[in-house]
Amino acid sequence: MSTGNVYENLIEIAKRRGFFWPSFEIYGSIAGFTTYGDVGVKLKRNIEAQWREYFVRRQGFFEIEDPIVNSSKVFESSGHLANFKEYASSCSQCGRGFRADHLIEEKTGMEHVETQGGDAIKRLLRENNVKCPVCGGQLKEPTLVLTMFQTQIGATGGEVGYLRPEAAQGMFTNFKRCYQANRERIPFAISQQGKVLRNEVSPRRGVHRLREFTLMELELFFDPVNPSCQWLSEVEGEKVRIITEDMEEREAKQPLEITIKEAVAKGLVLTEWQGYFMGVGKRFLESLGVPPERQQYRAHLPLERSHYSSQTFDHEVQTRSWGWIEVAGHANRTDYDLKAHQKGSGVDVSVLRKNGTRFIPHVIEPSYGLDRLTFVAMETAWEQRETPKEKRNIFHFPRTLAPYQVSVQPLVTKDGLSEKALTVYDKVLSEGYRATFDEGGSIGRRYARQDEVGTPLAITIDYTTMEKGVLTLRDRDTWEQVAIHVDELPKKLNAYFQGAEFRALGQLVARGGE
Ligand code: GLY
Repeated sequence: MSTGNVYENLIEIAKRRGFFWPSFEIYGSIAGFTTYGDVGVKLKRNIEAQWREYFVRRQGFFEIEDPIVNSSKVFESSGHLANFKEYASSCSQCGRGFRADHLIEEKTGMEHVETQGGDAIKRLLRENNVKCPVCGGQLKEPTLVLTMFQTQIGATGGEVGYLRPEAAQGMFTNFKRCYQANRERIPFAISQQGKVLRNEVSPRRGVHRLREFTLMELELFFDPVNPSCQWLSEVEGEKVRIITEDMEEREAKQPLEITIKEAVAKGLVLTEWQGYFMGVGKRFLESLGVPPERQQYRAHLPLERSHYSSQTFDHEVQTRSWGWIEVAGHANRTDYDLKAHQKGSGVDVSVLRKNGTRFIPHVIEPSYGLDRLTFVAMETAWEQRETPKEKRNIFHFPRTLAPYQVSVQPLVTKDGLSEKALTVYDKVLSEGYRATFDEGGSIGRRYARQDEVGTPLAITIDYTTMEKGVLTLRDRDTWEQVAIHVDELPKKLNAYFQGAEFRALGQLVARGGE
């Protein structure tokens, strides 16, 4: 199957089954905005919950919720107003604007052109005779444009505000209060999941590049004199695939396979904390279904790095739709941001060591993009299975990640089967599962509908349920069916969602086939 087909198929299913679709669709849409439907929201929330489990709950870290609209002072101090810019080129014929580095990449097949800097971008655009991709017109010399949304705070004007392009600044501007609430102990981390906005020049590829999206960010504050991470041993044996800065310089494409322990010991990853989060990140993505061989950490070259970073690794996933894409940045932000806010606000944010000396904490930041992860989870889980009748779409989501865990359906809607099925449905809901009820169309079509949104388990109520209290369970992945007694349902559901093999749940009554 060609790459284009994978993406187009997934977008078609996403729209039709209510995962996501372009926002403001009835008015023709605006690129860079997406609306999630019922199953999309549920999938997204489940990924978010998984992230919280891996990065926040396990370690007992803090969470905050900060405004999306920020005072301009925040971004003056943080350096975003000076640095959060891209080279854009507009067409002298149709007036449309484009990211100059992306146009060069599309024309030449080069990668990461932005890492080469402004002069190279201007030269490459000229040398490669890049034209407007829409009308073929001549492009103007690229200029740097700010990619943050500006707004007015106050209905009659007043103060200029900016919509945050990252959630991280909330953790820096609120550091002092959180540090006090943590009884002035360090190391500790503050995390935040929330919407951020970037006024992208010309977003394309749907959820790959959005103007409004969700970040899951964590800032770990530590003393640079004592940089050890108490949980490193939990992940130090994890083998990760890394493309170091040096390899990136040499354009080496084959990543180094190395344990977190070695990567830290050899100084390829500069701090234990960064190594720890890279190990956790690998496991987190595996929990979403992404195997290790489709993951890598790619170092940023200095020109690609954000203004605040001394070392950044992108956590990349190999997709069938777009090749390798970034789903996270793991950055060493040093004391850059806290120092900048101390200078900008005049508020002392230094902390006291036991020996009486003061210091500004250093920061390690893993930052995951939830929208891209949602797409990656879908693409990874997707299978198109040929049957004698059709090409069946199946999402093999991990059981706890699936939008709905259980579907309940009567075989037919007469003879009291619907009423009985509704009582089973209510029981499943009351046991705490995400469940859906479906009585429309043939049973085969209903199973197909559930496969297409990735519901792992289907429960069917038929005449044996009425006569003997026997239910049929159907497995999404194998299409096998087992029979169980209705009284056993809570126990069986619990076993299944704890990871039990489907066949172990009951007596096999059908070997699949649809
Ligand atoms: N806070 C990470 C980023 O803005 O990409």
